[in-house]
Amino acid sequence: MAIKKNNGGDDLFVNRLFSYLQKQLTIQIDEIIPIRKHVYFVKSKETNFILKGYSSNNRLLVQNDFLTALKQEGFEKTYSFYQLAKKPPLHFGNLFYGCLEYIHPSEKRFTYHSREDQLEGLEVLSQFHELTENLIHRFERIIPSFKQLEKWKERSAMFMKNLHVLRYYVQKEILNEVLYWADWSIKGIQVESNFFQAEKKVILHGDVAHHNFLRSKNDIVYLIDFDLISIGNPITDLLQYANRILPFLNWSLPELSKYERFSQALKEKGFLYALAYPTDIFREWNRAIRERSYFQPEKMKQLFEITIGQFKERKEFFQALQEKVLEIG
Ligand SMILES: Nc1ncnc2c1ncn2[C@@H]1O[C@H](COP(=O)(O)OP(=O)(O)O)[C@@H](O)[C@H]1O
Ligand SMILES: [Mg+2]
Repeated sequence: MAIKKNNGGDDLFVNRLFSYLQKQLTIQIDEIIPIRKHVYFVKSKETNFILKGYSSNNRLLVQNDFLTALKQEGFEKTYSFYQLAKKPPLHFGNLFYGCLEYIHPSEKRFTYHSREDQLEGLEVLSQFHELTENLIHRFERIIPSFKQLEKWKERSAMFMKNLHVLRYYVQKEILNEVLYWADWSIKGIQVESNFFQAEKKVILHGDVAHHNFLRSKNDIVYLIDFDLISIGNPITDLLQYANRILPFLNWSLPELSKYERFSQALKEKGFLYALAYPTDIFREWNRAIRERSYFQPEKMKQLFEITIGQFKERKEFFQALQEKVLEIG
């Protein structure tokens, strides 16, 4: 991992955080290097670690308990929490901080471009689900249930609200088509609602983006960042995973079904309907409009790529899903 020095204007804050930690930790620290907002790499002769800020002490405690339980169940491909505070919790500014074991990254970064990484990520995720199934009874009152339909309805509503901006950037025919996919998808999911509430429940990771997988120096793929854990059917994480890798499979259904786990899921109408939802297009446009990224050419380029550049493949993908649903009958 390239640790970015992103100190612009934050020097004072980092210096104060440094003094706070020096007083509050049981070990000596040498340096704090910001990685991103609320996440720091901390150098220490005794042990390097990652410092991560959470918005409440409760969130920090849930993370701590969950990671401890996960390790006890035998899941090794993630970090542990270190207990380094003299008097927990570490509370600085408006955040509560946890100290995470540092996973030394490999030069070779995890990327969904690589088939090998697609498969390894999927395997880690499946192991994660197998073990978190055993943790349900302990966490079901502490962490929320995942509500796919509500989330997507909100996302659609926001996208519709943003249409007056979107019209300047994307031609009407494309917008109409994308809206049609969303509509077909949501209606189908409602009909197949029992599919998402199926008997099997696990703790879902909730954010299986490539940057939450980390290839370590000793070449093991780790799963990190459990901020969005929730309870639900493992198919929900798989769906997100499929959405993440599909652009790298040129939106090909046959390519997706080459993975054993997906070939099973693709027999279910609920999964086919859900795959049609243009979740990335909606999410990224909503974010760009919220953050007013119109003047950032790199971001706009990426948006045009997923919406217009991949449109032909995506439309064919959608038609393939429709045909498959008809086949199942
Ligand atoms: N334990 C760790 N070891 C090494 N790098 C880490 C660790 N935890 C986080 N990172 C790095 O910091 C980045 C942000 O951390 P993450 O927990 O994913 O925060 P966020 O909630 O902001 O996504 C990760 O993508 C990874 O590059
Ligand atoms: Mg993350």
